[in-house]
Amino acid sequence: MAKLDIITIPDPRLKLVSEPVAHVDDRIRKILDDMLETMYDAPGIGLAAIQVGVAERLVTIDVSREGEPKAPLFLVNPEVVWTSEETNTYEEGCLSVPEHYDEVERPARCRVTHLDRDGVERTIEAEGLLATCLQHEIDHLNGVVFIDHLSRLKRERVVKKFSKLAKVRVRSVGWRPSMG
Ligand code: NI
Repeated sequence: MAKLDIITIPDPRLKLVSEPVAHVDDRIRKILDDMLETMYDAPGIGLAAIQVGVAERLVTIDVSREGEPKAPLFLVNPEVVWTSEETNTYEEGCLSVPEHYDEVERPARCRVTHLDRDGVERTIEAEGLLATCLQHEIDHLNGVVFIDHLSRLKRERVVKKFSKLAKVRVRSVGWRPSMG
């Protein structure tokens, strides 16, 4: 397995709609395994492939608590097929928006269909943290980051902060972006 680099806002790739996976083969399993290692190392409880620059519909999740046995989930082509009317508000964070946390309201429960690491069709009935995490990661596959659920004012403030940081990073390595 290999640890991959996680991209952060305002990287435009985070706005891409990821492509469905046609076959769950060794290439896909390798990406999933690398994603899981990257996620555990970060550490995070969920990761979408686009966060490591791969625009394919792949997600890894592990919401087990510290001290509990690891419980990794591998999701290929995950799809939210049902959500509850009842909602939940969680303070969310994202490995692509480091050290920024904000409250997001989402359906409290959801049903998600997907293929697993062996290409077998599965359905997850989720509530609590898992329901939030699934919706957050599937959003990434559609080019949506959790700050897109915040008010415009709040979102612009976050984007501005990270854009400034990106400029500082660019300057510090002496790289000049090309025009256009
Ligand atoms: Ni995220």
